[in-house]
Amino acid sequence: TDFQEPHRPQLHFTPREKWMNDPNGMVYYEGEYHLFYQYYPDSTVWGPMHWGHAVSEDLVHWEHLPIALYPDTLGWIFSGSAVIDKNNTSGLGKDGKGPLIAIFTYHNSVMEKAGRQDYQYQGIAYSNDKGRTWEKYAGNPVVPNTTPIRDFRDPKVSWYEKGGYWLMVFAAQNRMMFWKSPNLIDWEFLSEFGETYGTHAGVWECPDFFPMKVVGDGTTKWVLIASINPGGPNGGSATQYFVGDFDGKVFTLDETFKPDVTAEQAVWLDYGRDNYAGVTWSNIPESDGRRLFIGWMSNWQYAREVPTEKWRSASTLPRKLELHRLPAGYRVFSTPVKELQQLRRNEKVLAGSTMDKTPLPLESLFAPAATPEKNASGTYELILDFLITSPEASPFGVLLNNDLGEAYRVGYHPGNQEFFSDRRESGDHSFSEAFADKVTRAPRVVQSDTVQMHLFFDHASAELFGDEGATVITDIYFPGEIFNHISLYQERSGGVKFLGGKFYPLNSIWP
Ligand code: FRU
Repeated sequence: TDFQEPHRPQLHFTPREKWMNDPNGMVYYEGEYHLFYQYYPDSTVWGPMHWGHAVSEDLVHWEHLPIALYPDTLGWIFSGSAVIDKNNTSGLGKDGKGPLIAIFTYHNSVMEKAGRQDYQYQGIAYSNDKGRTWEKYAGNPVVPNTTPIRDFRDPKVSWYEKGGYWLMVFAAQNRMMFWKSPNLIDWEFLSEFGETYGTHAGVWECPDFFPMKVVGDGTTKWVLIASINPGGPNGGSATQYFVGDFDGKVFTLDETFKPDVTAEQAVWLDYGRDNYAGVTWSNIPESDGRRLFIGWMSNWQYAREVPTEKWRSASTLPRKLELHRLPAGYRVFSTPVKELQQLRRNEKVLAGSTMDKTPLPLESLFAPAATPEKNASGTYELILDFLITSPEASPFGVLLNNDLGEAYRVGYHPGNQEFFSDRRESGDHSFSEAFADKVTRAPRVVQSDTVQMHLFFDHASAELFGDEGATVITDIYFPGEIFNHISLYQERSGGVKFLGGKFYPLNSIWP
């Protein structure tokens, strides 16, 4: 049956079949979370891009809908965003109701092959039936590429309340550009940001730009998300961000944020190998107030080669972003959305224990303790608290195994003050030399003797939310069989105590 193939994610969105990359056009509207995505319906490798489409009422269970946007004579449909034009500023609404507007990049492969520089430009499309059918705007493109700039793409649009206009941010090669419009059709250049900040080892892509209230202090800062490929902290594609202020025209980096982003340094939303091109939902009701994010759970280093037959790539779990002010500066935390709790099948409380170099099967920590068993679902959530009693303690964490002897480890390295994810022995990696060449490392940003790990394991991925979301690692893997043994382990005994936690086998999101 459907969604049962080897490596098919059970907790994560995937298209039924064929190639997917970036999430696009996420917008909440009349009870539905829309998720569009870069889609090529004719192959399991990247090609002429369309916008695939799915909707969800709870961010967890998804209904696949027909393709929303097809390529046309202006080009393929690259990444972009969607907004609700409530006041019908565009005039593209119907019967007194504003339309849904998608803002995307046209990629003109004919012009590209002809050696031109101006083959990417921004267009719009509109829908007056809750995103079910779409009409391209007849006057496209709305932002032509006149300079020209070769990489000129991925518009993210939002309503800028203070100025009363639409704000567009998109990637222009090694920087982000800001434009404004009264009606989503006529756009005016405002400013650019980034040429001298962050890392530039690759091309900048897929920005997002939004205000966030700083948790616990009432001030508001603007966050600029900037995906980069390659140049990620653990190789390949990854997503950096910047925190600062916006005056309606120019984005200025915050003083406290500066030291980290000069000299080609960056702060990353996720240090794992597999969270790219993510952006946030628009039009989330104020009564909810969350900033909700989803990313593409792969990496351009090997995305086209991963060993799945019917489809390629999944999305990350949906996450809530929050802005915190730490001694090191502003940091964006990510936590899994609370809606995911409905997947919990039953709760097992885990008793505290001293850690040991002999792995502790999870079942031995159940109350009452049980003999190690096979965990049949292969999908688990764990919330674990540890206490480090000696700075010399060796690395510790969670070990997943299967009956083929494959293993995946995720945990914390006290000496390096880093979280890590080790997929080197996690299964098939023959498809790419880059896939399992090294351990993923993520610096810890909070200082505390206690370490919390909130983990989600799916058939083909692990997501670590360390220290309540301060440090995140998302890594995919391809074991020959599901991981059905879970234990806590430490490299060498001593210096760490497991304080206790919770374990939940999870239900699949697919019916
Ligand atoms: C990011 C990206 C975007 C582009 C899209 C094309 O992964 O390269 O910049 O719009 O993918 O599919």
